[in-house]
Amino acid sequence: MVAHVLVATRSADKLREIQHVLASPGEIELVSLQDVGIHESAEEENLEEFETFEGNALAKARYFARLSGLPTIADDSGLCVDALGGAPGVWSKRFSGRTDLLGIELDQANNELLLKRLEGLPLEQRGAHYLCAIAYVDGDTAASVVRGRCDGIILSELRGTQGFGYDPLFFIPSENATFAELSRFRKNELSHRAQAVRALAGFLARRLDEIQR
Ligand code: IMP
Repeated sequence: MVAHVLVATRSADKLREIQHVLASPGEIELVSLQDVGIHESAEEENLEEFETFEGNALAKARYFARLSGLPTIADDSGLCVDALGGAPGVWSKRFSGRTDLLGIELDQANNELLLKRLEGLPLEQRGAHYLCAIAYVDGDTAASVVRGRCDGIILSELRGTQGFGYDPLFFIPSENATFAELSRFRKNELSHRAQAVRALAGFLARRLDEIQR
């Protein structure tokens, strides 16, 4: 029997990345918020009020599991920059404070601010990592939260056109490329999100098996 699992994100990029890693034909069918007709609401804007990625991911998964009645996974992720004491962290999306912008324009404003904050710093002081927490929730009982991490360096200029968010500034020395210069396939082998999804996969398979019996 095919198990339907809701991927609770409004980001098409995140949805694609999660689908890419988790898709296992015939066993799990991942559905989006759009597929189940859950439209964007003001309430969901307030779900990310926690100080940790785990807290935010769990809050999102619980909220959308309740609305949909489906087993649900949700992520919270962000960029932690050493020279900024781990900022922007859980505030990554809202770093620039530009509440009037969305999508690529918001990404540009965030990247500009990051470049400004790190201006003049040499490469060896520009270490950073992406973190991603993924939460799984079904009904009131089962919940699991896992974490993935990917280390890199923040460049002083944008490179590449793939990916989203801070990807054109996030350089992986072992690849000699930014995330925005890697193919989608390669980013999905390395990324914080892919690692978190892989860490969840075993639990998810066992849990779906249990609830289908
Ligand atoms: P969230 O929707 O609260 O999880 O916000 C995550 C934010 O962190 C995004 O809007 C990006 O700014 C940043 N971010 C997280 N993961 C990535 C990634 O894989 N590439 C680029 N930026 C990312």
